[in-house]
Amino acid sequence: MAFAIELLNITKRFPGVIANNDVSVHVEECEIHGLLGENGAGKSTIMNILYGMSRPDEGIVRLYGKEVEFHSPMDAIQQGIGMVHQHFKLMPDETVLRNIILGWTPKKGLSIDEKKAMEEIGVIMEQYGLKVNLKAKIHQLSVGEKQRVEIIKALYRKVKILILDEPTAVLTPAETDALLETMQRLKKQGCTIIFITHKLREVLAVTDHVTVMRKGVVTGTGLTSEMNVGKLSKLIVGKEVSMEIPMKSYQPGKKVLEMKQVSTAMRPGRMPLKEISLEIHEGEIVGVAGVDGNGQSDLGEVIAGLIPAESGNILLDEEEITKSSIRERRQKGIAHVPEDRLKTGAAKDCTISENLILNCYDQAPFSRRMVMDHKKITRVSEELCEKYLVKTPDSTYTIGTLSGGNMQKVVVAREFSSSPRLLIAAQPTRGVDIGATQYIRTKIAELRDAGKGVLLISAELDEVMAMSDQIIVLYEGEIVARFKRGEADEYEIGEYMLGSKRQEVTYGE
Ligand SMILES: Nc1ncnc2c1ncn2[C@@H]1O[C@H](COP(=O)(O)OP(=O)(O)OP(=O)(O)O)[C@@H](O)[C@H]1O
Ligand SMILES: [Mg+2]
Repeated sequence: MAFAIELLNITKRFPGVIANNDVSVHVEECEIHGLLGENGAGKSTIMNILYGMSRPDEGIVRLYGKEVEFHSPMDAIQQGIGMVHQHFKLMPDETVLRNIILGWTPKKGLSIDEKKAMEEIGVIMEQYGLKVNLKAKIHQLSVGEKQRVEIIKALYRKVKILILDEPTAVLTPAETDALLETMQRLKKQGCTIIFITHKLREVLAVTDHVTVMRKGVVTGTGLTSEMNVGKLSKLIVGKEVSMEIPMKSYQPGKKVLEMKQVSTAMRPGRMPLKEISLEIHEGEIVGVAGVDGNGQSDLGEVIAGLIPAESGNILLDEEEITKSSIRERRQKGIAHVPEDRLKTGAAKDCTISENLILNCYDQAPFSRRMVMDHKKITRVSEELCEKYLVKTPDSTYTIGTLSGGNMQKVVVAREFSSSPRLLIAAQPTRGVDIGATQYIRTKIAELRDAGKGVLLISAELDEVMAMSDQIIVLYEGEIVARFKRGEADEYEIGEYMLGSKRQEVTYGE
């Protein structure tokens, strides 16, 4: 079998890091090739090289046996390479349509033939089950929808080689299944795909070969049919990982959070909440199950104070906080890991250490009489990076230089270490490698065991089921079911998630 892509002896250095150290990857024509490895292993770096976004310090790239040299993504696109990036490269104020056709626009005379483009895109959306409103502006879309736009954009450019950098991290299980099917269909039609993911189940389901990287080098490569979860995790982490989460028995204490018939306003591209009543107690994890886009985003944000409640009341420790500012809520003990870490979770141009102390830089011990204690800040930051497995040479680097999963770990480290009364964790392990996922879940369990209240919002039903003492199901902005741990299996919960069943859910006697 001929190789579609050969990345040969690629080395790429950044200040203080060798992101790729003599890496070689061979990808056969018309195969799905899994590229795996811990956060910071160097996966995005080498794919950016293949896509012409950056140049290797050493090494060569061959396409279909011929050496190529790309100076920009345009060169790669011309050769039929498409890439769906880990962090979307879309223009937020433009429509979906404009974003898709940018640089690849059918012309009618001198003007853009949008009608023709819409027809063609319509066919792609139909064919691959990827629905998005073409007239919506990008900033109105959910994370999952933005991802779909990126995929449609690549397909519209008729790619022969498609690089998918963690495409499923932001998708719901149903969307993931649809994408995996799309990938298989593309492969049958002659497309070669490189698929980066942290989810081993997906790797085993669709890939033909895998290459595993760790700390900038290849640790293994081979036929997927000769791999299993144990072997892969060993290649990824260097040792076997246990997926057990130790937790004390369930003994809920006082009410930490209470929501009484809280509704939020309609916003474009968002599902508002309709009269949500909810209680979270000390020592309790309440997990939110539901297909993404059924009010999960509003639920986290209304409690954290990012959006106002239109009606209803929110109480923290019996105290009304419905109208309190974000800052007041933080001071009263609400911590929030938001779902979109780049938009609301982190200050992109600030250093890792500044991001870690974002909420407490003006308080002791970091600051006394308006003077910041930089030594102290650095020491605490370095400790947090070490504890939360943030892979960086130095906490004075800007957060933008971190790999995707490591950025998430910075946000998690900041929020978890603020000793909250209530933790709102929205998609806390999204894009995080298996070792760190396990670590974050263990930390959530520890917060619960220490008597904190936790609201866990996750698109991963497995995660919700493994972690939660109570599970609520959100459907079209309403709570349609509530279960205690172990009361329902995933199929039953699935029926509520899809709206085919509902219960009467009430709190209190
Ligand atoms: N522009 C940059 N400047 C400095 N360092 C960088 C830059 N881009 C990447 N790095 C570093 O290179 C290493 C590899 O990063 P890369 O993004 O390739 O990891 P990854 O395998 O894609 O991880 P993840 O699974 O978290 O996305 C990391 O240590 C990262 O901090
Ligand atoms: Mg990456």
